[in-house]
Amino acid sequence: MKEMISIALPKGRLGEKAYKILADAGVECPAINEESRKLIFENAEKGVRYFWVKPSDVVIYVERGAADIGIAGKDIILEYSPDIYELADLGIGKCRMAVAAKKDFCDKRDTTLRVATKFPNIAKDYYNKQSREIDIIKLNGSIELAPILEMSDVIVDIVETGKTLLENDLEPKQDIVDISARLIANKVSYKFKNKEIRTICEGIEKIIK
Ligand code: PRP
Repeated sequence: MKEMISIALPKGRLGEKAYKILADAGVECPAINEESRKLIFENAEKGVRYFWVKPSDVVIYVERGAADIGIAGKDIILEYSPDIYELADLGIGKCRMAVAAKKDFCDKRDTTLRVATKFPNIAKDYYNKQSREIDIIKLNGSIELAPILEMSDVIVDIVETGKTLLENDLEPKQDIVDISARLIANKVSYKFKNKEIRTICEGIEKIIK
């Protein structure tokens, strides 16, 4: 009998794009396109079950094996360092993690740098490598406000079009890392459902080539 594969998708535009790639790769689940508040959709014939989860939770579902595979941003993978396999770069959700600040800000390195971010581990790692002493201010959104209100000196955040920075009189100062959506797998599932997962992965690779 065919093994059922559970797939965690990030709710929102990225998840919808990712689902399209998966559907084109042969694991479609038409019920997912119906207007509803359901969170789980199954296509028994294709042997797939999809869940919609909060984008930052995809790594948790996959790490714990509630989902066999999932689609997660590289930003979330770097921030949480989950014990999972990263199988493919989907080439969607492209953006970058960057340091940004007010246009006139220049780091003189003479005081502790106040860094506002949703990504404390990425920020700590980046500044540790430069032996730069920092004070992390963990926020959950609207990070750009922090330097405007003088609560922080810089922010470490996602920059996609750069519009949010521009419209708030901030500018990118240093790029940290390029981000895009990745196909990830639970390590045990990858071993025991290898054939099914490899088939999906190969299907995706053909689409994104
Ligand atoms: C993200 C990020 C920036 C914005 C960057 O925020 O935190 O604020 O997108 O995009 P841009 O370069 O295209 O302007 P998100 O929309 O996730 O909302 P948030 O404020 O809740 O973090």
